[in-house]
Amino acid sequence: MDLTHRPRRLRGGGGVRRLCRETRLSPDALIYPIFVDETLSGTRPIESLPGQFHYGLDSVCQAVEECQSSGVTHCMLFGLPAHKDACGSSAWDPEGVVQKAIQIIKKQYPGFYVIADLCMCEYTDHGHCGILSGHEVDNDKTLECLARIALSYARAGVDMVAPSDMMDGRVAAIRAELDANGYTGLPIMAYSAKYASAFYGPFRAAAGSAPSFGDRKGYQMDPHNRKEARKECALDAEEGADILMVKPALSYLDVIRECSEAFDLPMCAYSVSGEYAMIKAAAAAGLVDEHRIMCETAVSVFRAGADMLITYYAKEIAQAIRKGDIG
Ligand code: PBG
Repeated sequence: MDLTHRPRRLRGGGGVRRLCRETRLSPDALIYPIFVDETLSGTRPIESLPGQFHYGLDSVCQAVEECQSSGVTHCMLFGLPAHKDACGSSAWDPEGVVQKAIQIIKKQYPGFYVIADLCMCEYTDHGHCGILSGHEVDNDKTLECLARIALSYARAGVDMVAPSDMMDGRVAAIRAELDANGYTGLPIMAYSAKYASAFYGPFRAAAGSAPSFGDRKGYQMDPHNRKEARKECALDAEEGADILMVKPALSYLDVIRECSEAFDLPMCAYSVSGEYAMIKAAAAAGLVDEHRIMCETAVSVFRAGADMLITYYAKEIAQAIRKGDIG
């Protein structure tokens, strides 16, 4: 057969397949979520996220060591406070659970990069992401609290803050507060296009942050919308965000593609709890090969245009990259 084009030439062995890969993965681009529980000593398995653990402040270093031995060098901290109230006051307590975890980790492992998720839903007794006025979250009152939380994380020594609340104007409010207090060099990773998603279910069980009434549709985005994601990214970029994020990842690969092309800022994707839990459940039922599904989904997010990925599989993906299964 006289065929000019034989794409199969580049698919064979002898290293050519790896040579021609269009998407390269690196452990440097992975961020591992760590849940720190103020009331816990030691570790406790998270029922809704098989293979994941809550860490007490006395064992948070164990989480870091597990990351480091797999090659993961970045984490995202989530706090489970001992005390919750209507205004989420323990979120900005200088002795709060995340503030303490930051201090402990940065003291022991100064080179380990610590990002703190910045939201109020784990700290309010009603589980919403801000201060309530009646049954609505009051946007502008919430901004003051978010700025206060950001400053307390900065003072504790965090490397980056990541607001996940979806209030309007939060990036500007946080930037202004950080700058006014001398933290001009502290970057903000904005959860810019965060959708009102059913994929957060296992996280809310893990973080104890499910709203006690209503839902988050008043502030998180409608999954039907694509242009609105561009608007949110544009606003966050204008307000001074250093990194943009799309969340969840797998059902929003189109949004990752579009926003990563439209904005000249690094793009993060968050492969959320439901994405992880679905793979775990399907694998436990013997329906899929967990390792290969994990690898393929991670590759798809980077192929879509993400520069970095927050994932509960970060340690396993880093090991897969090291072994040469992907990357
Ligand atoms: C806090 C926050 C949530 C997640 C990250 N930050 C929950 C929510 O918005 O309800 C979800 C992460 C996941 O599902 O893995 N607002």
